Amino acid sequence: MDTRFAISEYPDAAAVNRQLNELISKPIYTITDEALKKYEEEYFEKKCAKSKAMISEARNIIPGGVQHNLAFNYPFPLVFTKASGNKLYDLDGNEYYDFLQAGGPTVLGSNPPEVREQVIDLLNTCGPSTGLFHEFEYKLAKKISDCVPTVDMFRMLQSGTEACMLGARIARLATKNRNIVKMGGAYHGWSDQLGYGIRIPGTKFTQANGVPIRIMRDTQEFFPGDLDALERVLRFNMFRGGTAAVYLEPLGPESGSRPVDKNFCKGVERLCRKYGALLVFDEVVTGFRVGMSGAQGYFDCSPDLTIFGKVVAGGYPGAGGVGGKREYMKYLGAGLDGAVKVKKAFCGGTLSATPLSCAAGYFTLEEMDRTNACVKAGRRSSQSVTCPSWPSIRAPSATWRPWARCSSPSIGLSPGRSLAYSTPPTRERPK
Ligand SMILES: Cc1ncc(COP(=O)(O)O)c(C=O)c1O
Repeated sequence: MDTRFAISEYPDAAAVNRQLNELISKPIYTITDEALKKYEEEYFEKKCAKSKAMISEARNIIPGGVQHNLAFNYPFPLVFTKASGNKLYDLDGNEYYDFLQAGGPTVLGSNPPEVREQVIDLLNTCGPSTGLFHEFEYKLAKKISDCVPTVDMFRMLQSGTEACMLGARIARLATKNRNIVKMGGAYHGWSDQLGYGIRIPGTKFTQANGVPIRIMRDTQEFFPGDLDALERVLRFNMFRGGTAAVYLEPLGPESGSRPVDKNFCKGVERLCRKYGALLVFDEVVTGFRVGMSGAQGYFDCSPDLTIFGKVVAGGYPGAGGVGGKREYMKYLGAGLDGAVKVKKAFCGGTLSATPLSCAAGYFTLEEMDRTNACVKAGRRSSQSVTCPSWPSIRAPSATWRPWARCSSPSIGLSPGRSLAYSTPPTRERPK
């Protein structure tokens, strides 16, 4: 197995956070009305007419015109018909560089033939799902376990959200404690309980519209990177049912956009041992991306449970799973381990662990391992953020500003030969 990591030099997290705080405290700069209008007219109106027509039809039957949050775009979403490697092509035939990577799972690029051909073979022999055991269930679980030393066992699910939900159930059964603690701003999917404290640290229940506040009563957040703040929560929880688990996005909330110190995760591990809580690493983003052994390999940590998603199905449907130490995974036995007398965590999923998702995941991880994909991707991204011709994107992260025109959901795609690179938009204060 490739034991190297994608991170060549760990950033000085305190310095990055200082820069980030400075950035947040400054007025918002946005594209001028004239520049935006020109962009709309010269690119979207002239070159994307077919997308515009289709989306205006789709709006009548799909809320907002698209089914996926990431597909939203201003002034209208584009319709993509072809994806290959690092390129995407829209309905009007325009070509784009793909910085979105489907939101994370297509680490090998779009539609790699090494995976596609195996998937076609599987579809020809077995079809996408049977509801019964298939050899690729074993092969994928074995591959993950071989790569990530803390994963003695692995259970595949349909999404990272489900896996995060299940992690909390296992932790409660195993510890008999009640509370789940997470880092403020971290995203652990969109389940009711873990919708607490998402996007912006300290926002508690306010970002999860539609979830009753009482459901989040047993979830707490602590400020990113602050071990003292975490310990205060853990100590307080001793008097209100104990802490079942501490969830971490190991690079920091929102995929490391507010990075934590290199020794932070180790500190959290020590606190978990002290207060009897399970340590749960949410490696939906970092798993098989920071390296084949994930962020836990990089930080030399030993989480009790690990949440997987995205790349574990190689961009095919059904991407999620929980892996972990045998003593905790026993709460998931669905069949043959009847000798283990413990309450089983409530868990299901008609399309969990289909032959399709398991085969796609297995061949993706094999190919990533063979080609040292994590290390290569890490090198490429370092090159791109230090590229002298892109000075304007040297900021430590893009900050979520719902009312700024260029907010994070719309910056994933950049037209390959468009105005975006040839004439950078003027930046000025909004009027
Ligand atoms: C860290 C993290 N955890 C969990 C999830 C949820 O995974 P899914 O979208 O597969 O439900 C995501 C999704 O982006 C994520 O980034």
